[in-house]
Amino acid sequence: MKVLVTGGTGYIGSHTTVELLANGHEVIIVDNLDNSSKIVLDRIEKITGKRPDFIEGDVLDTDFIVRVLKDNRVDAVIHFAALKAVGESVADPLRYYQTNVGGTVSVCKAMLATGVNKIIFSSSATVYGDQPIPYTESTPREPQNPYGRTKFVSELVLADVAAANPDFCAVALRYFNPVGAHPSGEIGEDPNGIPNNLMPYISQVAAGQREKLSVYGNDYPTKDGTAIRDYIHVADLAEGHLAALQKIYDPGFHTFNLGAGHGESVLEVIVAFEQATGQTIPYQFADRRAGDLAEYYADAALAESQLGWRVKRTITDASADAWHWQSGNPNGYKNVV
Ligand code: NAD
Ligand code: UFG
Repeated sequence: MKVLVTGGTGYIGSHTTVELLANGHEVIIVDNLDNSSKIVLDRIEKITGKRPDFIEGDVLDTDFIVRVLKDNRVDAVIHFAALKAVGESVADPLRYYQTNVGGTVSVCKAMLATGVNKIIFSSSATVYGDQPIPYTESTPREPQNPYGRTKFVSELVLADVAAANPDFCAVALRYFNPVGAHPSGEIGEDPNGIPNNLMPYISQVAAGQREKLSVYGNDYPTKDGTAIRDYIHVADLAEGHLAALQKIYDPGFHTFNLGAGHGESVLEVIVAFEQATGQTIPYQFADRRAGDLAEYYADAALAESQLGWRVKRTITDASADAWHWQSGNPNGYKNVV
């Protein structure tokens, strides 16, 4: 298949592009490089021996996306391009609605205009909000912040477009907590400034770039008092996209949780990282982070039964791969010549 990957130079998009190329698909990446680097293309080529086509541009520019779809005879779209910082979405909700919801609307318009009928969309476990665990796909959606609401609204847009267009097939993949990097150490997560997320922060502590980790909250009602999440290796996530691309053909709107189906506490992640890498992670307990939930993880049974997909890698694998990436690329893709 010829696949348009929006946001394909980003963290999850680059790993998925590797998986697509390795499985014989052709990839055209569209990215405005707002949160990524073109160096990723060299790294993808190094891993796979194939260079994806790349066109710099904005998904909000519908005419541009129409041209890309037409000129390249695209069969399907995987739509990663979005903004993803929860705190930023609280401070500047319009930017998030514009890019995330507006981007989804724009990509769908371009697809309808060109007869491209299949889209796989990056959604998030954050659409569920504070609900009983484990989350199944039918757990009510009550996202707690503007970022989560942009994902929820984007899903509604896709469901409505699918309802109005009998050939349209939309698959929303609700990712739990993506972590890790490609085992080659060539591509990985490259946050700007101080990482918000746990695994990149731990990696930078291990590399000596940050003094110690703050563990946000040790008074949650969990086994060790720290919060529990369902961490999923980014390579497993990439395989989930391939499965959705190859297995789901029925028109309509489909959703799948992509998670491991169990959770780890922050302290368990620290121990796994230390064991996988031989590094010591100094940490201190700090106040809970506003908006964080105590515990959630996926019921991933639907993805297993319908996509034939389940995670293969552990948090220890993810830690080893994150460290391989971090130690080989201390500045991420920055200052690479
Ligand atoms: P990322 O920031 O690394 O990748 C997103 C890419 O989209 C970047 O390369 C960025 O430059 C590009 N982009 C942003 N706005 C654009 C626009 N208007 N036009 C074209 N390109 C644009 O993020 P990621 O972690 O790879 O996330 C990919 C997707 O998965 C996003 O939709 C995100 O919301 C979703 N998601 C991520 C996580 C996570 O924890 N990383 C969890 C759940 C869902
Ligand atoms: N944490 C720390 N210290 C840190 C960073 C994080 O203790 O320096 C804790 C958090 O409090 C939380 C856990 O580690 O308990 C995981 O935090 P992350 O920031 O890595 O991930 P979140 O679960 O908060 O959210 C992530 C993405 C969201 C996405 C969500 C989907 O950031 O975009 O997963 O489940 F929506």
